Amino acid sequence: MKKLLLPVLFLLVSPAFAQVNISPMPVELKEGKGNFVLDKSTLIKLDSRDQQKTAELFNEYLQAVYGFRLKIFAGSDAVPTSANKIVFRYQRLAPQVDGIYAMDISARELLIKAPFNNGLFYGMQTLIQLLPLQKPATASLVIPQVQIKDYPRFAYRGMHLDVARHYFPMSFLKKYIDYLAYHKFNNFHWHLTDDQGWRIEIKKYPLLTSIGSCRAQTLAGRYGSDKYDGKKYCGFYTQEEVKQLVKYAADRYINVIPEIEMPGHGVAALSAYPYLGCTRGPYKVYETWGVTDDVFCAGNDSTFTFLQNVIDEVIALFPSKYIHIGGDECPKTKWKSCPLCQARIKAEHLKDEHELQSYFIQRMEKYINAKGRSIIGWDEILEGGLAPNATVMSWTGEHGGIAAAKQQHNAIMTPGAWCYFDHSQSRNEDSLTIGGYLPLEKVYGYEPVPKELNAEEAKYILGAQANLWTEYIDNPSKVQYMLFPRMTALSEVLWSPKEKRSWEGFEQRLPGIMDRYKLWNVRYSTAYYDLQPTVVPAEGNGISWKLDTKNTNGHIIYTKGETQNASFNYTGPLLISATGTYSAALEDGDHKVISNWVKQSFSLNKASGKKVTFKTEPNKSYSGSGGFSLVDGVQNKVGMPKSSEFLGWLGKDMEAVIDLEKETAISNIILHAFEQPGSWIYRPSEVTFYSGNNGADFTEIEKISTVTGSRNLIYRTDHAVKARYIKVMAKNYGVIPIGQAGAGTAAWMFADEIEVN
Ligand code: ACM
Ligand code: ZN
Repeated sequence: MKKLLLPVLFLLVSPAFAQVNISPMPVELKEGKGNFVLDKSTLIKLDSRDQQKTAELFNEYLQAVYGFRLKIFAGSDAVPTSANKIVFRYQRLAPQVDGIYAMDISARELLIKAPFNNGLFYGMQTLIQLLPLQKPATASLVIPQVQIKDYPRFAYRGMHLDVARHYFPMSFLKKYIDYLAYHKFNNFHWHLTDDQGWRIEIKKYPLLTSIGSCRAQTLAGRYGSDKYDGKKYCGFYTQEEVKQLVKYAADRYINVIPEIEMPGHGVAALSAYPYLGCTRGPYKVYETWGVTDDVFCAGNDSTFTFLQNVIDEVIALFPSKYIHIGGDECPKTKWKSCPLCQARIKAEHLKDEHELQSYFIQRMEKYINAKGRSIIGWDEILEGGLAPNATVMSWTGEHGGIAAAKQQHNAIMTPGAWCYFDHSQSRNEDSLTIGGYLPLEKVYGYEPVPKELNAEEAKYILGAQANLWTEYIDNPSKVQYMLFPRMTALSEVLWSPKEKRSWEGFEQRLPGIMDRYKLWNVRYSTAYYDLQPTVVPAEGNGISWKLDTKNTNGHIIYTKGETQNASFNYTGPLLISATGTYSAALEDGDHKVISNWVKQSFSLNKASGKKVTFKTEPNKSYSGSGGFSLVDGVQNKVGMPKSSEFLGWLGKDMEAVIDLEKETAISNIILHAFEQPGSWIYRPSEVTFYSGNNGADFTEIEKISTVTGSRNLIYRTDHAVKARYIKVMAKNYGVIPIGQAGAGTAAWMFADEIEVN
């Protein structure tokens, strides 16, 4: 009997331990002992009809997830007696932070207090998160008695979505707004126009949508491939739909910021109205990704007339204080050879094309300011001088935000390394992404106020935002997968007090957070639980393969070779002593494999695991595991190397010395390098191999200045030598010439591996 009783007893008492799992974590949270049981007999009592919308949204949630709704009473309505009620009340609270609310739950009353409706709405979102994480069998929802006082840390809490690279239907955009609301975000940045499509109806310029919203086909596979899908791709939002979405968001206390890109990323508009470009076309809506030289002509007044007319219609649709005008990635190539652009530079006494970009932005800013609105631009609007009232959205790093704040301009932080949710979440990502590596933990650890700013300057950091560019995201399910759980982590960065943030605490709440995603029917990434393989230096000199996992339901097994027949329990880093492939996976207690197999090939040679020193260290954005990355036995023969496995130098040469530890007979030396001009990564212009025996004096073996092929490049010398030290010099491509991607800036140089045979 006892054995049977125990589980029953547990079921009966478990609601008393209902786990409090709220994201973002509230400022103050006190857990009491009892419960509030919400069922069909619970009433909602409002101070005022002004609170009705929020109460109705709560009912919609209850209906959608738990299948029932509550009766709402407001103002002087006669309220029947009920077992218990939810009460919304206007009340002043301290501190006076926009969005503040408090919550007080007893057995009979669930009270949400706030001075304004947005606070009541945030309180309602917290209530949603106090509901059971699993759908209970009966319509009786046990809510723990808690007391909460809560308000946001940052005034700007944003999420962005690119609908130009791929179009998403209105029904999904509403869901996207719901996801923001669940997490107390208050700004949706809607990236509406780009080279690959113009997605907003502008009545004065119908060709923007009849021509500009369609591309003939789309790149298939990774950027740089020459395969296209051959399928016409179209989509745009009517002004009626835009109004609907703006209203839908406003009901959820979310402001919608439209982005109309200029002066770059405008080919879709140029295709519709070729007179807007320097060469007058013809142009076609872009079918691949990256950056194109075709941009709006800055010398032609018609460009400004056009953009101002577009902005007029945009302003009428969006009540947002901010209008985003892009400003990023605008090559100056066409402006350099355009007579009108050059005449403008002369007439306005501008120094160069960078000042012309500044002229462009400032002219548009003046227009938008005159309409009572403010501009946001990506950090390139700092080029050639910042427009007087502009807010900078810092994406290329933190430096744009830092520069803006130091110039007493507002800034919104969206640095790629922490805020680009199009980057991979896992090192062994199984879906195609743009690349990069942005795990959950890194998002959670992001601090929006750069340490370079003092307290006064820090006030200009309004908040932060994650960006979701959709080159490789063509359906709603993939959007969800890229968002969750990283968006939940970011919500905590933006809302919760800095000192309340705890990665360990978040890790403990993660299973519950994922249960809630299931309740919401959203797809999410479980990368956090993946097997995490890394190649690390072995003790002494050598290479080892290290495997980690957070999954406590499994243990790691591995096998040498591709076959998964004979596998061994993993007990610690595997010393790699020969060329070959290793595989590993997670297995449960019944020896069932519960993860993907991860594979790693090693290619060993005389340099493998040996000590490497540099004259100039690689750039800290691409520093891998330092010199070890060049001799870790991991060679990328095809495709984009993983960022952990290459080293990058920005505008600088590589000079690497390898100590082979003893005099060694060498028949060839190979440098594996990488190029991807679209990403400003250019091949070394020259590679020189040297040998030496004391680590200081070297003799040239061979200089190589041409290499065939592209992307994964091999520089090789076949002169036999005997030496203890090898030096490899790779000369940076230098300043990128006009006509090539990234013209005028320093080139990146990427090295992957040095092989000595
Ligand atoms: C951007 O990612 N080009 C703003
Ligand atoms: Zn021009």
